[in-house]
Amino acid sequence: MARGRFITLEGGEGAGKSTQLRRLAEALSARGIETAVTREPGGSGGAEEIRALLVSGETGRWSPTTEALLHTAARRDHLERTVWPALDAGTWVLCDRFFDSTMAYQGYGLGLGRDFIGSLQRLALGDFRPDLTLILDLPVEQGLARAAARHGGEDRYERMDLSFHRALRDGFLDIARREPERCAVIDAAQPIEAVQAAISDAVSRRLPVPAP
Ligand code: TMP
Repeated sequence: MARGRFITLEGGEGAGKSTQLRRLAEALSARGIETAVTREPGGSGGAEEIRALLVSGETGRWSPTTEALLHTAARRDHLERTVWPALDAGTWVLCDRFFDSTMAYQGYGLGLGRDFIGSLQRLALGDFRPDLTLILDLPVEQGLARAAARHGGEDRYERMDLSFHRALRDGFLDIARREPERCAVIDAAQPIEAVQAAISDAVSRRLPVPAP
């Protein structure tokens, strides 16, 4: 059986990732592909427990290094328990955020830098990489306004200052420039249907679907 594909959706706050992930999963399922939708931080029992420590509470409750380690520990559990078994079973896994979020938020946003985050990732994940990463990009103010309209208690990162959010947006764009074969930047300020069409186009161009 062919191994499944691993697609990640990335972006700042309020970019519309969850909606687009659901729509992409429906479109792939309609083409006969077994899909699973998951998220980070989270996606396994242990990782969801770690999520609760990261997404709520005081903005400064962790040092940047501790925070990067917590995200990475959650990621390792998620991969071992959820993602790798699904890929081995031939399922396409669609993941709301992955290691580029650690690079953008903790590496660029909190200033830990590319080298530190890169080393951490190699240590925890080896060479494992997404087959395709879709980066949903939109102006920071617009994303934060959308996110504020929607959220319950999981707003620890939203409460961080504008300069942090601007740095992580630039970080995502820099990641895409450095790895153009893996990453596609999608303009998320467009209407939902246009974003969906751009995603669908990127997926079919870069990951041709096998005939049923
Ligand atoms: P979510 O709101 O998209 O589910 O993500 C939870 C928050 O966690 C979001 O504000 C981004 C942040 N985050 C990081 O800072 N580093 C990471 O590695 C991941 C996966 C998420």
